[in-house]
Amino acid sequence: MISRERLHELKQREEERFTREHPRSAELYGRARSSLLGGVPMNWMKKWAGAFPVFVAKAKGAHFTDVDGREYVDLCLGDTGAMTGHSPDVVADVIADRVRQGITLMLPTDDSLWVGEELQRRFGLPYWQFALTATDANRFAIRIAREITRRPKVLVYHYCYHGTVDESFAGLLDGVVGPRRGNIGPPVNPAETTRVVEFNDLSALEAALEHQDVAVLLAEPAMTNVGIILPAEGYWKTARELTRKYGALFIADETHTICAGPGGCTEKWQLDPDFVVLGKPIGSGIPGSTYGVSEEVARRISARIALEDCDVGGIGGTLAGNALSLAAMRATLESVLTRAAFEKMIPLAKRFNDGVAAQIKRYALPWSVIQLGARAEYHFNARPPGNGGESAAASDFELERFLHLYALNRGLLLTPFHNMALMCPATEAADVDLHTQIFADAARELTA
Ligand SMILES: Cc1ncc(COP(=O)(O)O)c(C=O)c1O
Repeated sequence: MISRERLHELKQREEERFTREHPRSAELYGRARSSLLGGVPMNWMKKWAGAFPVFVAKAKGAHFTDVDGREYVDLCLGDTGAMTGHSPDVVADVIADRVRQGITLMLPTDDSLWVGEELQRRFGLPYWQFALTATDANRFAIRIAREITRRPKVLVYHYCYHGTVDESFAGLLDGVVGPRRGNIGPPVNPAETTRVVEFNDLSALEAALEHQDVAVLLAEPAMTNVGIILPAEGYWKTARELTRKYGALFIADETHTICAGPGGCTEKWQLDPDFVVLGKPIGSGIPGSTYGVSEEVARRISARIALEDCDVGGIGGTLAGNALSLAAMRATLESVLTRAAFEKMIPLAKRFNDGVAAQIKRYALPWSVIQLGARAEYHFNARPPGNGGESAAASDFELERFLHLYALNRGLLLTPFHNMALMCPATEAADVDLHTQIFADAARELTA
């Protein structure tokens, strides 16, 4: 049992240590507050445990150094944007070269062909388009789905996250769809645009699809944004039969689940989606994303896009598919996020998982840990949750922040959202073992 009083005391001790040991970051944050909204360039950066974010001096591979000269093992990796490791040399060289030869032209370069053909091989879908963020790739896929099905609604899972896609900020409250907590300025009540069901509940899925107004199911093959939640055995096979039976399409958002392998869960679990979306690490951090479509979707949408209107139809964008982004994607897929890299990363995530599981057992904590490919995550419930509602009910913001700060003070960065750790090709066993040691020390202090 963890006493709240003990947790407060320990958290306060760690907060004082953090402030004491990061004077330069504190100074920069103080200055930033007079020019940046909330003192940060992007509001998520406020979410880190500690009174202010750590300002970064440089990052390479699985490590970074802050402006106070402190070094860290990075298991957050830019919340997957740097799953390649920071600035892999081979990509840095290609980018430096490309930057001198034209960055954006609104004309294709031959890198786009290589990338399209490689994505075909990995995910099995024949046609690909590019955007700059996974959010945009999801938005464009949704637009295409609505256009060809002539249906209004998007179906998502309770507690999903797919980027800043308006339709996906919907949740269930006592079984009724409504805006999700924290949804800033919803354009309309998302109940008008969205149906929501719990993950792993096939009856609820069928009931939602039966209305025959769902254009598309937008889903991560395994949920990762409310902690990792794996699909039950056979879930996707039946779910896919149901989407087909009721005429809805399926977007597999592999932005995070690419951690499962070079072709994400789509390849690993043979998902056969109508769309695949991927962003974040695909260009080693250079903005870029992609969406692939099936033969049938390609045929149906091509028939509906008039050349005269193709630039104002709501898909695409000036900088999308630019030469730099495609050069970075090619180098990343060719040399960094390779099958061989996954063969190194996945056993390291297992090492993380097993290390944490052993400490949970040792300190008799009512927690669990789950692995998905190169990613692992612990939850504050004894059994891995089966859906978003269950997972969210076990969240503990104060405990989570304490553990994050405890790790940060000892030179290790976890993702600021829940307790997620990701391996990159440059991560080593010693990096994982540092986490296990820190986790064990925190567990010992919490239960003392
Ligand atoms: C599954 C998933 N899809 C899409 C996105 C959106 O990515 P971006 O913020 O790069 O647009 C995220 C971001 O966390 C994500 O987790």
